[in-house]
Amino acid sequence: MNQKQFWYIACESYQLKNDKPLPARIMDEWVVLFRDKSGNPVAMQDRCLHRSARLSTGRVDDGHISCPYHGWKYNSQGEVTSIPSETEVGRKRCAVKYNAIEKDDYIYVQLQEHVIEPFPMPSYKHKGYTTIRLQNVFENTVTNCVENFLDIPHTTYVHPTIFRNASRQKMGAVVERRKGHVKVTYLEEKSDFGIFSWFLNPKKESVGHTDEFFMPNVSTVNYFFGKKHFIITSQSVPVDAKTTKVYTDLTYNYGMWNWISRPIIRWQGQAIIDQDIVILKNQSETIRKYGQHFQNSPCDIIHTYIESIRGEIENDRDPLTLSEKTERIEFWV
Ligand code: FES
Ligand SMILES: [Fe+2]
Repeated sequence: MNQKQFWYIACESYQLKNDKPLPARIMDEWVVLFRDKSGNPVAMQDRCLHRSARLSTGRVDDGHISCPYHGWKYNSQGEVTSIPSETEVGRKRCAVKYNAIEKDDYIYVQLQEHVIEPFPMPSYKHKGYTTIRLQNVFENTVTNCVENFLDIPHTTYVHPTIFRNASRQKMGAVVERRKGHVKVTYLEEKSDFGIFSWFLNPKKESVGHTDEFFMPNVSTVNYFFGKKHFIITSQSVPVDAKTTKVYTDLTYNYGMWNWISRPIIRWQGQAIIDQDIVILKNQSETIRKYGQHFQNSPCDIIHTYIESIRGEIENDRDPLTLSEKTERIEFWV
């Protein structure tokens, strides 16, 4: 199993029009996306077989993509179907093609064939739920981004007021690693959710909270405030060795507040991400200078589990063979 065998988001569905190609970058591969005659997404290497012009700067007509340089035309199978300077195409030529699929209003690309499904976005378009989508670029690795998205201790330092205020409360959690999946179940959490506490947790009751990592690049955070459910799902796509594009779904069911709260939740989500972009750039610059040498406190066990799974994938090994583990931790927030 290696990183190229997983599905990565290349764009949101609405971004890929019927009559225009779209460039994407995944694991340093230049990819061009377009839609075939039936509207299905197609992904190919963004390079013309003829003289290497970028196909993403070309045109799409009738489900075929044509190169902007000499007009070679390709069908949805990547085959050259027309060469303007020739009366016949002649021998069969085929561009490098990747698998592409549309799911939950995202376009996913798989660089190398493997039997696996894209991650289903939790509660997306489920009755009573609404979703806000954000896209952001982080200057750091997928592993460090995912760790940040599932890290509680930084929230009171990086995101006070808009996410979580320090309250010197003890928190317990059960951390499990099983089959490429890490799950953290927080026990008796009574966090101070800053300026939104009055709405999310007015009686300061304990909230339900789980954090999960699904290999190779998905993190989900679930909060249950009574009947209110809030899910943050982030898919971290490796653009290159030090850049990660993160697609975030903020999905929630606040009943009559669903639509009214959208601009506030979009603002809050983006403000929190902007703060993380800054701290993750800071971390990545130091790692580039001095190398990645980490020390752990007990609650970093979550991160060491994630690192163990991602480490297996990065070294072309199967993370499903890692032993199952369960730990109970306590820390202060
Ligand atoms: S480089 Fe694409 S047609 Fe010539
Ligand atoms: Fe954060």
